[in-house]
This record gives sequence, C-alpha cells and structure tokens, in this order.
Amino acid sequence: EWNMASFVDEEVVRIRELVGNKKVISALSGGVDSAVSSVLVSKAIGEQLTCIFVDHGLLRKGEAQQVKDTFGGKFNLNFIAVDAKERFLKKLAGVTDPEQKRKIIGEEFIRVFEEEAEQLGEIDYLVQGTLYSDVVESGTETAATIKSHHNVGGLPEEMNLSLIEPLRSLFKDEVRLVGEELGLPADIVWRQPFPGPGLAIRILGEITEEKLATLRDADNIVIDEIKRANLYRDIWQAFAVLPSMRSVGVMGDERTYSYTAVVRAVTSDDAMTADWARMPYDLLERISNRIVNEVEEINRVVYDITSKPPGTIEWE
Ligand code: XMP
Repeated sequence: EWNMASFVDEEVVRIRELVGNKKVISALSGGVDSAVSSVLVSKAIGEQLTCIFVDHGLLRKGEAQQVKDTFGGKFNLNFIAVDAKERFLKKLAGVTDPEQKRKIIGEEFIRVFEEEAEQLGEIDYLVQGTLYSDVVESGTETAATIKSHHNVGGLPEEMNLSLIEPLRSLFKDEVRLVGEELGLPADIVWRQPFPGPGLAIRILGEITEEKLATLRDADNIVIDEIKRANLYRDIWQAFAVLPSMRSVGVMGDERTYSYTAVVRAVTSDDAMTADWARMPYDLLERISNRIVNEVEEINRVVYDITSKPPGTIEWE
C-alpha cells in the first residue's frame, strides 16, 4: 500500500544507497519544497548533508527567523544561515527594472551559496525540490520554466553537482503530506508559494530598507487577517505590493501624503492561470483598516481585481 510513510521509507533507502559516503548540500529557502526535500535527505544521510539558508533580506516578516528557529534546532541538520542582507541591498541599490532585479538576485545568490559550499570540501550532490509539475511542464513556457529561469536556488552549474530530487514524482499536495509525515511545522508545510526574488519584485521601482519594512508590515497584516478568516489554504497566493506611489489622505486633522498599498489575492491550481479571489468585503475592510492604522507610511489600500491572463500574479 502506498502512503506517505512508505514513500518516506523507500526514499530514505534509495537516497542512502545513491549517496554512499559522499557529501550533499541543499539550499533551504523556507519554502515547502526545499524544506521537505532537505529534511527527507537529512533523514536518510544525517550529517553528510549540509543545508545552507541564504538570507537575502527580501523575505516576509519574521520568516528568516522562523527558518533559523525551525532548521537550526529541531531537525538535527547541519544548518548554515548566511546573513547576506547588506550584500543584496547594495547590489540592488538604484535598480528599478524587474528583470535586472531578478538577474542580480539570482547571481548574487549563487555567489553566496558557492562561497559557503567551498568551505565544506568535496561535495557531490545537490538537493533540489523539483516537483512532478516541474518535470512534466518543462519545455513549454509554464510556471515551471518560469521557475527554472528565475528561481533563486537554481543549480550553480560550475559546481558540477549531481542532483537529488526526492519529490520528482509528487504533486504539491502530496509534498505537503510528506512534510507533515516528517514533522515539519504547519507554518512551513502550508506556506503559500513565494517567488525566489521575494519582496524585491513586490516593490515597484527602487528597493530600500524603509520600503521593505513598510511592505513587510502591510503584507503581514494581509496574511494574518486571511488566516484569521480561515481562508489561507483556499487562496493560492495573497500578499501586499508597494507601488512606490503616494497619494493624499487625511488622518485626524492632518493631511497626509503617503504610500498606497495594493492587496493581491488569487486562486489558482498551478499559477499558469489565476483568478482574483472573491474575498468577503468585511475581510477586505479589516485588512484596509489595519494597514492604514498600523502602518504609518501607508494611507490608502486598493484591491487588485485583475485575473491572469491578462495580468500576472506578481506585479513585476
Ligand atoms: P506570475 O507573476 O508570472 O507568477 O503570474 C507565476 C508564479 O511564479 C512566481 N514567480 C516567481 N517565482 N522567481 C520565482 O521563484 C521569480 O522570479 C518569479 N516570478 C514569479 C509567482 O509568485 C507565481 O507563483
């Protein structure tokens, strides 16, 4: 009988035989795919695996700390967290073009990852969280190829590593079940997809530390209210975007001139197409009120009612 427990057992045996006494690295991003594949490989070969988490400073609120708490402790992993926030911010200074942002982030990621890996000596394998949908869709311009083009954590080719892809036969919902089987926290197992370049492509125009902090606070309110409304798992992705645009508002007796936040929430099966989520008005109201009241730099909230196509899920 096939179930998650037997899948884990069989993969553990297979990975052990494949790897022998060689060394393996993996890039942990905090997303469900990299988390599940890393913990699965760790279960198979323990200390022979080293997981590297590159904190590029573009994650959501509290996320970097959560990754460190989760993997630095409980799972008995060789875990390295690299604080590369300043490096990325410096490289991104003044950059406004979306594809340029992606390129810089992708290249810098590989550089940081390689620097860390070099210190570990001879390494033969790299763990990748490739899913079945990535395998069957590759070759056409789908979410998978978009992912392989842009995904931070893509294979540094010069390193000449063989791949271990334990999730290659699984769908996303099965990966989540394997994650539960492995004892990963629900926050990670049920996390919505998040782009590799992170908040850099949700701030239109130049990225600054101040804008990142503002966006993080607004985004956190969106997620928090959607979770409270018990809709988090029904929505494919929900987040805030900061278009770097200001408008006039009024707060008490004061005229304000501050940022607008965009709320984006979509339903989808595979990110190829998406529909804007018909969120209840009272939920939208709570999100709007909280953002304007709690995030000082924002005085207006708009809801994106564009589906994909013709819109994309992200704004950049
Ligand atoms: P779009 O905006 O093209 O997004 O409708 C489709 C899906 O892909 C994600 N996305 C990315 N993921 N690197 C990634 O790893 C990227 O550069 C990137 N751009 C978009 C997006 O979040 C959505 O799930």
